[in-house]
Amino acid sequence: MRNPFITSGYVSAEYFCDREKETHDIISLLLNGNNIALISPRRYGKTDLMRHCFSQPKIKEHYNTFIVDIYSTKSVAEFVGRLGSVILEGLKPKGRKYWEKFISILASVRAGISFDANGMPLWTISVGDINSPSTTLDEIFAYINQSEKPCLIVIDEFQQITHYGDVNIEAEIRTHVQYCSNANFVFSGSRQHLMGSIFTSPARPFYQSVTIYALQPLPLAKYTEFCKHHFEHNGKHLNDHTVEQLYQQFDGITYYLQRVMNELFDQTAVGATCEAEDIEPAIEEIVGNSSPIYEDLIYQLPEKQYRVLQAIAKEGKSVNLTSGKFTKKHGLISPNSVKSALPALIDKGLLTMSKGVYQVYDKFLEMWLRKKL
Ligand SMILES: Nc1ncnc2c1ncn2[C@@H]1O[C@H](COP(=O)(O)OP(=O)(O)OP(=O)(O)O)[C@@H](O)[C@H]1O
Ligand SMILES: [Mg+2]
Repeated sequence: MRNPFITSGYVSAEYFCDREKETHDIISLLLNGNNIALISPRRYGKTDLMRHCFSQPKIKEHYNTFIVDIYSTKSVAEFVGRLGSVILEGLKPKGRKYWEKFISILASVRAGISFDANGMPLWTISVGDINSPSTTLDEIFAYINQSEKPCLIVIDEFQQITHYGDVNIEAEIRTHVQYCSNANFVFSGSRQHLMGSIFTSPARPFYQSVTIYALQPLPLAKYTEFCKHHFEHNGKHLNDHTVEQLYQQFDGITYYLQRVMNELFDQTAVGATCEAEDIEPAIEEIVGNSSPIYEDLIYQLPEKQYRVLQAIAKEGKSVNLTSGKFTKKHGLISPNSVKSALPALIDKGLLTMSKGVYQVYDKFLEMWLRKKL
């Protein structure tokens, strides 16, 4: 029996809960020629929503679709390299004439492409090979404009461009996007203040050039229906109350719901009913399994940062962290030491901050830290 609660990646519509309105909205915006900024906190389901949209027959059949994750890119050259490699990978299954056309346009980096034993191209271009990222970007967009089918392109984790240290990149991408008649774009991202400032500051190039779409958590009623369907389908039962309690505990954040539901499904015998009191042991199992990874992570943190992280885990959603009250309550050295630890913890992806409220990003890590106290 396959576990129907998928915790990594999109499988098919059957295992994807709801998002009917969002799928409809996004597809109609794109098909009507709009570009979109898709924004939500982490792990709500942006990437899977885009995969779901692109797997709809009316999209799959008539468009070339690409999802370009730029999370780990650190420069414009890496950005350009990632874009090129995703497009090449996407064209390979379509056949030789498609990828040959792309390669023939990529004059500035063509020499860096190699071929495997079957004559299939490999993106073996290193960042050092991309001597003039702007030229290569021009070529990639020239290809997009000549592609035999119109293109839909997601640039995922788009806020990453603000870390390239290149003030022109926003204007450059904006100009390409604006003049690209054969493609529409979704810029998706989770660092809300960065995404917000790219698209809503009048002084920035992307101002008023996209439709902002804020993704909300899945509605409780829809998620309950989805979970019960999969339990019943496999001869197991599930209380409404169990789903509701789980949903409240994790603020409806899709990843955590799915991760715990996966465990609950596994632990419920055929014919048995999953009850609310099963949630805690399921979470303990998940957190326990991650313990060695968390130990390792903590081990690598400077003591000061670890203490601040632990204090925030204890507090839950935390505000006024640089007040004397907070430092005293948690036995920290000084408000200044907290102040310097916060950006480092955010940078490492361990903390999130929205509207002055700090939280440990990984809820399972938060629980583990609390237990350790
Ligand atoms: N509608 C859905 N139904 C079922 N599972 C979903 C749904 N949407 C997302 N998920 C699951 O939730 C998890 C998070 O989804 P996803 O990676 O798409 O989120 P994200 O918003 O892109 O996160 P991040 O900001 O971290 O990139 C994944 O494990 C995915 O399988
Ligand atoms: Mg994502």
